[in-house]
Amino acid sequence: MKTKLNFICNNSQVEASVHPGLSLLDFLRKELRLTGTKEGCREGDCGACTVLIGVLNGTKVNYHSVNSCLFPVGEANGKHIVTIEGLNGTDFSVVQKSFIHEGASQCGFCTPGFVVSLTGYYLSNERFEINDAIESMDGNVCRCTGHQSIINAAKKSTQLLSTNISNHTDHINALIKSGLLPEYFSGIPGRLKSLGRKFPASEKILSPQYYIAGGTDLYVQKWEDMLKHNVKFLSSNVILKTIKEENGNCIIGATATVTDLIESKILSKYFPKLKEHLKLFGSLPIRNRATVGGNIVNASPIADITNILIALNATVHLTGSSGKRKLLLKDFFKGYKTLDLNKDELVDYVSFKLPAKNSYFNFEKVSQRTYLDIASVNSSIYLEVTDDKIITTHISAGGVAPIPLYLNKTSEFLKGKTINAEIVKEAAVISQTEISPITDARGSKEYKSLLLRQLIFAHFITLFPGKVKMKEIA
Ligand SMILES: Cc1cc2nc3c(=O)[nH]c(=O)nc-3n(C[C@H](O)[C@H](O)[C@H](O)COP(=O)(O)OP(=O)(O)OC[C@H]3O[C@@H](n4cnc5c(N)ncnc54)[C@H](O)[C@@H]3O)c2cc1C
Ligand code: FES
Ligand code: FES
Repeated sequence: MKTKLNFICNNSQVEASVHPGLSLLDFLRKELRLTGTKEGCREGDCGACTVLIGVLNGTKVNYHSVNSCLFPVGEANGKHIVTIEGLNGTDFSVVQKSFIHEGASQCGFCTPGFVVSLTGYYLSNERFEINDAIESMDGNVCRCTGHQSIINAAKKSTQLLSTNISNHTDHINALIKSGLLPEYFSGIPGRLKSLGRKFPASEKILSPQYYIAGGTDLYVQKWEDMLKHNVKFLSSNVILKTIKEENGNCIIGATATVTDLIESKILSKYFPKLKEHLKLFGSLPIRNRATVGGNIVNASPIADITNILIALNATVHLTGSSGKRKLLLKDFFKGYKTLDLNKDELVDYVSFKLPAKNSYFNFEKVSQRTYLDIASVNSSIYLEVTDDKIITTHISAGGVAPIPLYLNKTSEFLKGKTINAEIVKEAAVISQTEISPITDARGSKEYKSLLLRQLIFAHFITLFPGKVKMKEIA
């Protein structure tokens, strides 16, 4: 199944007839011979393959970083793809010069990925903060230079660019003038607009065997299958990306990405710490692609977004050939990777009641390393409290059962109780009767049981520091 694709790669227009499920990494290296984009892990873990994706939005192009090993080439259609080769002008760019100046490149294998990630940060933000610039490289790993020189290079380029581009009106032109981007970037919006006219509609795929959203699970687990079967992309459906408030509920479209959740004004209003919580999810390129629907349907017992949504008592809304239906997310999981989802059904969106004024929410995750790692155990809690008395509780737990778990008995026990250390200790004991952890690479079953107990303590110590203290619990 080949599809005609038309996109801009760096400064060149690309027309190709290719299987849309091929990874962009393979297309760049093997077809276009752009070998500056490196192949490391092929699992989204090293960042050597990082490229930028530019999407036309009105008269502007919005750029974000992705792991090209997990990105289907079919999704490049109508977009601007930027590889390390596309950042080279007549001279080295500000970022490249900073890397040279700080000795931030040794064997050089990781360097294109770092340079592309950092350039992506300056492209997608109008104000630069050193810590944010450093964080934009959180998906890139260097094996030989040592990260400090890379951090120094990021500090240097951030300082240089912040001084050079203050008080500008046209961000892209300011970045061109300050030596970050080659001149051709200014013509990209117009060129993408005419591309859109040339290829107005994507081809209809009959009976797709795979629906790809962000591809961050599918390309790790089944990348070879993506080459052999009919695939359909869900992320191009912008309606499914919406995050909105409606009749006291929050609605999140299935293709909203983790970055969309972090950037949502509605969610940050109700969950001020969400950004902090979601920084524990993968890396920036993964967050730019990983969707809510994919997180739910992949059905991993440790899925972070699913864990959060279960504690918000979310409802999942499905669409299929026999119509629409909905059910509570906590009832969606039937067994290990088994869902109450028919073959022809898709997740449309999730909804949950907007948090009440007297509500509290917390998310905890323990993994073998703090960042860019999946959880050993995770847990979320939602509480409504009046006069120190718990009125409503929902607690979720991941990594302690074959499915993302709702702690029924523990949540029920806490209702009507006054918050104090004794009650929290009792709740933690009850939680142990609801779980069935197994020993695997992320820890022994005993360790995971202990972790859940500690996370329940952590919820209350974090949310009610005046009422529940570490020394009363330990
Ligand atoms: C390096 C790395 C780090 C990661 N870190 C984390 C982490 O910290 N926390 C975490 O929870 N996960 C993590 N993940 C896992 C993954 O990113 C998430 O599960 C993500 O949310 C999956 O979404 P996706 O859109 O990429 O799914 P895809 O891979 O596109 O799809 C996954 C499955 O869901 C199906 N699907 C997708 N959307 C729909 C829909 N709307 N309706 C029906 N079926 C659908 C697909 O057909 C497929 O079967 C990580 C993955 C990688 C590679
Ligand atoms: S090759 Fe390692 S993230 Fe893509
Ligand atoms: S410079 Fe060698 S891996 Fe980073």
